[in-house]
Amino acid sequence: MKKNLFLLFILVYSTSLNAQTDRQKAEALIKKMTLEEKVGQMTQVTFAVIAKGGWADTEGNIDAEALKKAVVDHHVGSILNVNAHGFTVDKWHSVITQIQDEAKKTKLKIPVLYGLDGMHGQTYTLNSTLFPHNIGIAATRNPMFATMAAKVTAKELRASGVRWNFAPVLDIGRQPLWSRFPETYGEDVYIVKTMGAAAVKAYEEDGLKSTTAVASCMKHYLGYSGSRSGKDRTPAYIPEIEIREYYLPQFRAAVKAGSSTIMINSGEINGIPVHADKYLLTDVLRKELGFQGLIVSDWEDVKRLHDRHNVAATPRQAVVMAVNAGVDMSMVPTDFSFYDLLLEAVKKGEVPMSRINDAVTRILELKYKLGLFENPYPEPDAKNNFGKPEYQTLALDAAREAMTLLKNKDNVLPLSKNAKVLVAGPCAQSLTALNGCWSYTWQGNNEQWYPADSKTILQAIIDKIGTANVTTTSVKGFDSSANYDVASLSSSAATADVIILCLGENAYAESPGNTRELALPDAQVALANAAIATGKPVILVLTEGRPRFISSMEPSVKGILMAYWSGKKTAEAITDVLFGDYNPDGRLPFSYPRSMGEIVMYDRKPTEEIREVFNDNINSGYDPLFPFGHGLSYTTFEYSDLKLSTPSLTSNQKLTVSITVKNSGNRDGKHTVELYTRDLYASVTPCMKRLRAFQKMNFKAGESKEVTFTIDKNDLAFVNAQLKTVTEPGEFEVMIGDKKTKFTYK
Ligand code: BGC
Repeated sequence: MKKNLFLLFILVYSTSLNAQTDRQKAEALIKKMTLEEKVGQMTQVTFAVIAKGGWADTEGNIDAEALKKAVVDHHVGSILNVNAHGFTVDKWHSVITQIQDEAKKTKLKIPVLYGLDGMHGQTYTLNSTLFPHNIGIAATRNPMFATMAAKVTAKELRASGVRWNFAPVLDIGRQPLWSRFPETYGEDVYIVKTMGAAAVKAYEEDGLKSTTAVASCMKHYLGYSGSRSGKDRTPAYIPEIEIREYYLPQFRAAVKAGSSTIMINSGEINGIPVHADKYLLTDVLRKELGFQGLIVSDWEDVKRLHDRHNVAATPRQAVVMAVNAGVDMSMVPTDFSFYDLLLEAVKKGEVPMSRINDAVTRILELKYKLGLFENPYPEPDAKNNFGKPEYQTLALDAAREAMTLLKNKDNVLPLSKNAKVLVAGPCAQSLTALNGCWSYTWQGNNEQWYPADSKTILQAIIDKIGTANVTTTSVKGFDSSANYDVASLSSSAATADVIILCLGENAYAESPGNTRELALPDAQVALANAAIATGKPVILVLTEGRPRFISSMEPSVKGILMAYWSGKKTAEAITDVLFGDYNPDGRLPFSYPRSMGEIVMYDRKPTEEIREVFNDNINSGYDPLFPFGHGLSYTTFEYSDLKLSTPSLTSNQKLTVSITVKNSGNRDGKHTVELYTRDLYASVTPCMKRLRAFQKMNFKAGESKEVTFTIDKNDLAFVNAQLKTVTEPGEFEVMIGDKKTKFTYK
């Protein structure tokens, strides 16, 4: 009897242990930790700190002493990045195994959390699958690609033994100069919100213990992309009404979608560096948005409160400010200064122990959730999920749907496969100009690390139409002078039916991508002028991360294809569109500006729409070269029969909006139907239009479909002067394609 009771007790006890939540496990563990161990958990260092020779290492060789110093002596909670370039999956396994072996030597055996930037695929594993950057994903208007690209990225990260991804970027792209524009989902907050939440779900929804999931990291909270000068990490001045309208909703949605971590904007808003902003980090993020996960700093940003932002008089004060504002983990990342200074600060009573416990509990909880305590090592099963052939198909599908046909005068496209083409321009034989940043290296600009089967545009065209039909003046090397040889282009055009001119931007990331000029470089403009002067039809193919001005050449070229930086299959997707094997359906996720003085977003205010008119000089206020949402097809679509379920919407009622869409051409095609609304009068000047919903569908040639949307008052809301999101009674317009109608909201 006694024995049975004892067994029962053991059973109940062990079940209750198992039933402990990850939070409770973290809370239990923290009780056993010294202050040093806690502060160590809050410290994140970069790979160079543990590498043989520090930054000099390029092959991922770990220095045993340096590793011990970090993991055993300083108890670091997290390591990130690589030095120079990505590793193979096997190399990653060996790196992670060595690190976790070291963690096993510590008193509490707390595993190390490794984090990487898998921004459009897993950046730092060689032969990973690269998808379009977010700007291209937004152009697809197909959230399935945000989902599927994130799923593959999660699998390829996890296959590499890494369980934390610093993605997705939720910064909104309303400043086209910004060097991280390609990492954004463009200028519209509804698209950013929709795509961002889809990515977060995809990273995490299988459960963080699953070999198909990773912890996501919403970034960069908040207002990073709103920099006034457009330069990376420079000040933004954003009134709170605008923060709440354009910068915050996507974070709210991503928190709701279940993101586990968040990274802070390296810049400052209205003079307050975000890393020191308790209002944004604690009051808004924690209390208002209810975010329970881990807050990590961005690169060196705690230090920078002292040595760049100059709001902290000493490095220790910088640490105190950041931690007290709400930062849980500091991406220090090149030394242990944060560890030393935080220890000192806690001992001096400058940071309360409750704040340390709060931060460390969140870090440990995440490690429990990720299954790192059960098995911190790379999972053999996960490895099977690396590099599956179907990922290549998915990358091609995504790249095809990103392709945005901006101009097609006289139906110059699609080209005949018998056409004699001259392929020219610096992007024609460049892989880096197709993939952009975060491609096997941080800057993405070293082709040495790209998969051997990556195709250039020239190669893809040759594969499509045969060597005999193709001549080129391009050479390898974006900057090679031969790529800009105007005379050679002019003379080579004689035998060509058409010139495919590949212009745009070579890869860049972050501050190295800062630019003084959005106009294309003079040498590229000269090429375009030479191509136009030949009198042959010119098709401009743009591979670029942000809109570079093409206004001077636009009237004289016949076709323009915006290809963005669309990853591994960019060249194939471009070629499929040019030669008619794919009917393009991408839509611009930003307004393509004409010039520096014409940078106006599509959701402009009435006073931006109608300018004051003097001397008969009438300009439309919104006058981009190509508007937001623009994108041509090889077929045509007609809209009719716009209907509302009610002309007057009340309180919580739903409004059904339906419209008939017909593929009136003779090719099958996909098409995105976009629903915009306009609030005619409101207490805060209303926007001329706001995207509120979209649906992408297949239409057979000649096919008609009724497309239905259901919206409610929340879809009509805006932020008022009291900073509340409200829907005011009044008259609204709903616009789909060229049709519009009105309804009232009471
Ligand atoms: C970037 C982040 C990135 C981090 C780690 C920073 O410079 O701003 O987006 O996650 O580095 O690589």
